[in-house]
Amino acid sequence: MAAPIAVVVLAAGRGTRMRSARPKVLQPLGGRSLLAHTLETAAAVGPQQVSVVYGFGGSSVPEAHGGYAVRWVEQPEQLGTGHAVACALPEIPDDHRVLVLYGDVPLVRPTTLQPLIAEGEAGVALLSAQVDHPTGYGRVVRRPGDGGVEAIVEEKDATPAQRAITEVNTGLLAAPAGPLRRWLAGLSADNAQGEYYLTDVVAAAVAEGVPVTAHAAAEPEETSGINDLVQLAEAERIWQARTRRELMRAGLRLADPERVTVRGRVEAGYDCSVDPDVLLEGEVVLGDGVHIGPGVVLRDTRIGDRASIDGYSVIEGAEIGPECRVGPFAHLRRGSTLEQGAKVGNFVETKAAHLGPGAKANHLSYVGDAEVGARANIGAGTITCNYDGAAKHKTAIGADAFIGSGTELVAPVRVGEGATIGAGTTVSRDAPAGALTVARRQVRTVAGWQRPGLTPQRGAPDDGTEAAAPPPTED
Ligand code: UD1
Ligand code: CA
Repeated sequence: MAAPIAVVVLAAGRGTRMRSARPKVLQPLGGRSLLAHTLETAAAVGPQQVSVVYGFGGSSVPEAHGGYAVRWVEQPEQLGTGHAVACALPEIPDDHRVLVLYGDVPLVRPTTLQPLIAEGEAGVALLSAQVDHPTGYGRVVRRPGDGGVEAIVEEKDATPAQRAITEVNTGLLAAPAGPLRRWLAGLSADNAQGEYYLTDVVAAAVAEGVPVTAHAAAEPEETSGINDLVQLAEAERIWQARTRRELMRAGLRLADPERVTVRGRVEAGYDCSVDPDVLLEGEVVLGDGVHIGPGVVLRDTRIGDRASIDGYSVIEGAEIGPECRVGPFAHLRRGSTLEQGAKVGNFVETKAAHLGPGAKANHLSYVGDAEVGARANIGAGTITCNYDGAAKHKTAIGADAFIGSGTELVAPVRVGEGATIGAGTTVSRDAPAGALTVARRQVRTVAGWQRPGLTPQRGAPDDGTEAAAPPPTED
């Protein structure tokens, strides 16, 4: 049986070049932390255990990753990569093989790690990369004769000839736990940086006649480390491109792929399409035949079959049923739930609102803390006055109710089933089912009234129209 795998993730560093107060591994990539990407890669190789070595930023790093089943090992002082791995080793049995990953190398694929894991059972296996500009990296020094790996030399310790080598160490490696423990115990910090280098285990293995192999990653970009915001932006670009390709291969039609940004996880059924300039954040789930118009933002939202979200809508924490129509320019906030065929139109904001099947709020409304029954129609400019300055209150609108335009619903308030509310009513007490409820002030017309500054001739406008208006109406 193959030796169990113990992954050790190095994440203690500060990342000084980020010029940021937060630990480097908490910087976001595709909406998740750098470290979260490495932890997902770690989980994908089928490990017996995963240890994360943290340090800078203290408990903020474990706290930000509470959902992962990993062992947190504190490295109080960053004495080097060798010291960091040594901090995790006491909990790893000798018969395991250790795979070292970096919290700041988030793009490596599990398949790229497979040869390392296979060869890390009997010897040291490292992931190397051929690069045009090796500056900053440790160089892979090979024997002149058989080309076998002899050592890794850090740039600061390298001779000019070694600096010319373009095969570099990515830092990721695998080795058997027993010998690794011995090699790490023998490390010295007698080098240009005064650190315990993990990379020195290569020379130690070679000295013992243990095989050392180096594999190059299929795509060099997989193994790029992130040290500053320029590299972070580059990694983001790569991650976005990779994610969009995966989504398209899974059947999501992107009108202009480079103009769609994903910050999280997206799942989509058949025949969904996404227009340009769309941002998908958090957990987004689309059913079959969903259309997302241009400029839409979807955050932690589920959308049912054949629903359509028209342009420039912002939707967050919502549940949208099949055949619903939303937008253009709609704003659905946390807790908005739309049942089948419901419609929320332009310049409508909803929050913690449940719209029953076929319910409509088509224009210019605020619907908050509301329960809206099936087929109810909310006229333009209707407002739920849900907040009295101290607490939020609920509005309940029954099925088939008709709320006239410009209505204010002063919560807590209930509108019964099939009720009609006359336009412009301030509904400050419950409106019974099936009846018309209306409150309307008298409309007056003042004949001969002169708007200040409009014209000097009182009562006789020079455009020839009658000054007198029709008689006042009452209702
Ligand atoms: C390391 C390698 C170098 C390789 C490069 C690839 C060594 C000695 N050198 O160099 O050969 O080319 O990575 O990027 O290993 N860390 C800790 N604790 C520590 C020191 C580092 O957790 O005490 C973590 C860092 O947070 C980082 C990773 O280990 O995630 C690498 O450390 P870093 O200082 O960036 O190593 P490099 O000098 O770049
Ligand atoms: Ca580095």
